[in-house]
Amino acid sequence: MTRMRLPLKDTPRAYGKVTRALHWSIAALVLWQFMTMILKVAFGVSPRESAIVGSHGPVGTAVFILIVIRVIWAFVNAGRRPAHGRGIIGIAAKAGHGILYLVMLIVPLAALSRAFGSGRGFSPFGFPLFPTREEPIAWMVGFGDAVHGELGWVFGVLLIGHIAMVGLHEAMWKDGTLAKMAGKKALRDG
Ligand code: HEM
Repeated sequence: MTRMRLPLKDTPRAYGKVTRALHWSIAALVLWQFMTMILKVAFGVSPRESAIVGSHGPVGTAVFILIVIRVIWAFVNAGRRPAHGRGIIGIAAKAGHGILYLVMLIVPLAALSRAFGSGRGFSPFGFPLFPTREEPIAWMVGFGDAVHGELGWVFGVLLIGHIAMVGLHEAMWKDGTLAKMAGKKALRDG
């Protein structure tokens, strides 16, 4: 029996190793981000009393770096990725993924803008990313305040929709959508 090997790059049949590593590591870290904020908002745990809640900013910064790499990797693989399908469903899937990418970039970017603008200094995992400054930059803080939390929850709703759509593909259309991002079934059946 020949063993299927996942390629590094994407193919029209399935996503490759790099895309999968980025997708699932970002998924796990974003889940962590929501868990830390649910602990804070719903259970009143403050970042000062809990290292888990306190990890939100540093982990969010790591997520942002991974997302930037993911966007670059999407461009590198443009034209060789699995198609979204034809017709209105295909257009909706393409638009949905585009919106997810956009929101995924803006949410941490807004928080980083606020962290930079506040002038309080920001050293994720001990790495001195933003220095302290006397004068805050009002528009950067305003942008972060207005966008980060609200768009963060919108992102959560979009993710629930994303997971629900994969469930629909699996249950109704049985078109192997999940297999393109998990396992090697898509390579065998494609
Ligand atoms: C993909 C990454 C991220 C996600 C999904 C995310 C999500 C969220 C959500 C849902 C909230 C709750 C807002 C509320 O109180 O109702 C929040 C709050 C917060 N986040 Fe993030 N975040 C991310 C990245 C970051 C980063 C990079 C930083 C720091 C630079 C950060 C700093 C904060 C802070 C300080 C709060 C509490 C104040 C506020 O509500 O804005 N987050 N985040």
